[in-house]
Amino acid sequence: MPEKRTTEETFTPETATSKEETAALKGNPAKGEVLLRVEHLSQHFGHLKAVDDVSFDVKRGEVFGLVGESGCGKTTTGRSIIKLYDITGGSIYFKGRRIAAGTLEYRQEIKRLREEADAKIAEINAGADSEKEAKIKQCKAELRERVAQEKAKIKAARSDHRDCEKKYLKDKTQELKAAYEKALTTLPAEQQAKAKEEYDNALKELHRHKLVTQIQMIFQDPIASLDPRMTVQEIISEGLVIQGVKDKSYISEKVYEVLDTVGLVPEHAGRYPHEFSGGQRQRIGVARSVIMQPELIIADEPVSALDVSVQAQVINLLDDLRHKMGLTILFIAHDLSVVKYFSDRIGVMYYGKMVELATSDELFRHPLHPYTRSLLSAIPLPDPEYEKKRKRIIYEPLREHDYSVEKPSMREIIPGHFVWCNTPEEQKYKEELGL
Ligand SMILES: Nc1ncnc2c1ncn2[C@@H]1O[C@H](COP(=O)(O)OP(=O)(O)OP(=O)(O)O)[C@@H](O)[C@H]1O
Ligand SMILES: [Mg+2]
Repeated sequence: MPEKRTTEETFTPETATSKEETAALKGNPAKGEVLLRVEHLSQHFGHLKAVDDVSFDVKRGEVFGLVGESGCGKTTTGRSIIKLYDITGGSIYFKGRRIAAGTLEYRQEIKRLREEADAKIAEINAGADSEKEAKIKQCKAELRERVAQEKAKIKAARSDHRDCEKKYLKDKTQELKAAYEKALTTLPAEQQAKAKEEYDNALKELHRHKLVTQIQMIFQDPIASLDPRMTVQEIISEGLVIQGVKDKSYISEKVYEVLDTVGLVPEHAGRYPHEFSGGQRQRIGVARSVIMQPELIIADEPVSALDVSVQAQVINLLDDLRHKMGLTILFIAHDLSVVKYFSDRIGVMYYGKMVELATSDELFRHPLHPYTRSLLSAIPLPDPEYEKKRKRIIYEPLREHDYSVEKPSMREIIPGHFVWCNTPEEQKYKEELGL
C-alpha cells in the first residue's frame, strides 16, 4: 500500500491554520465537492458525433458509472478527459480548472450571428428607409463587436487547453510562495531552515505531480494496453520514469508497494504480460495507474473481458482502493448490472448523448428514459418469478420520441434525476412519478 499522498504532508505549510485553508491552498475540493466537471463535451470524428453535448460532474470520493452499449462514446469521453484529443466542443474542469476546451459552440455562435446580421441587412436593403446606409453600417459594427467577443472566447479556450499545466504550475508556485513567505522571513533560524526544506520539497512535488497526471485511465483492453515487450516492472513504473524519477531503488520500492496493493507479488515484477491471466493483467493495469497517486481514476470497462468470477475480484479491488486511497472513480461499463452496486450515481449514454443521469438507487427504482428501461430489461435477476415475467424491451427511438416540434434537452425531473427529453415527455415522466 503506497503511503498516503505525500503532498498531504509536504504541502502543509506550518503557517496554515485550518484544514480548509490547507485544502484550499492545494486546490483540493473536500469530499462531496465537484472534482471533475464535463460541460457540453463534444468529440466529433469527421461527421461522426462520437460524443455530442454531454454534461455531468463527478464528486470527490464517489464512483460515477457511465453506461451504454458498444460505440455510444464512453471510451471517447474518457479519452477526452485525459486530453488524448483536442476536443471539438465544450469544457472539462478538474479541480475547478479548465483542462480541456473545444471551440464548437463559439464557432456556431459566430455563424449564427453572421446569418442573423445578413438577414437584417437584407431586410434593411429591401425597405425604403432613407437612413439605410447608416443602419447597415451600425449593423455591421455590432456584428464585428460580437464576433470579436466570440473570437476572444475561442482564444481563451485554446489557451486553457494548451497551457493548463503551465498555468497550474505558475499559480500553485505563487500560492506556495505566498504561504511560506512569512515563515521563511520571520521565524527563528532553526524553524526557518525547516520551513525552507518543506517549501523546497513542496515545490519539487508540485513539478512532479502534474495536474493531468492526477487523472489516470485504466484502459479497456488489458491485453492490447500492456506492451508485450516490457516487463511488469517497466510497465508499472513507466509513468514515474516519464515524470523524471531516476532513483532505481525508489522506483523498485514503489513498484513492489503497488504490486502488493493490487494483490500481486514482487516476483511478478520481472515477468511479461503474456505470463498472466486476464484478471492479473487488469491488476497490472490498476497498479500502473495507482503508482501515479491519482485523485481520479477512469476505469474503462475494466472487467468486461473477464470471467464473471474474476470480475467481482477486480471490482472489489477497485472498491478497496477507493476507500484506502480516497480515490474518485469514473467507471465505464456497457452493462448496468456491473455498475449497480459499485456506483453512487450513473449516467446512461446512447449514441453520443447522455440520456439519463441519477443516483444508482433512483435509476433502478424509477428508470424514465426508454433506453434505460431497455438496458434494465436486459439484466437477469436470480429470482425465478421475476425471470418468468422478464421481457426484453427493445428501444426504438423513432417510435418512442417525436422531436419534430420541440427538440430535447437535459431536464431535471426530480432533484438530481436528469433525463434527455422535451416538454411533453418531461410532463409524462413527472406524471409517472406521481408529481
Ligand atoms: N479515433 C477515432 N476515429 C474515428 N472514429 C472513432 C475514433 N474513436 C472512436 N471512434 C468512433 O466513435 C464512436 C464511439 O466510440 P467509443 O470507443 O467511444 O465507444 P464505446 O462506448 O467506448 O464502445 P465500446 O463499449 O465498444 O468500448 C464509435 O462509432 C467509434 O467507431
Ligand atoms: Mg469503449
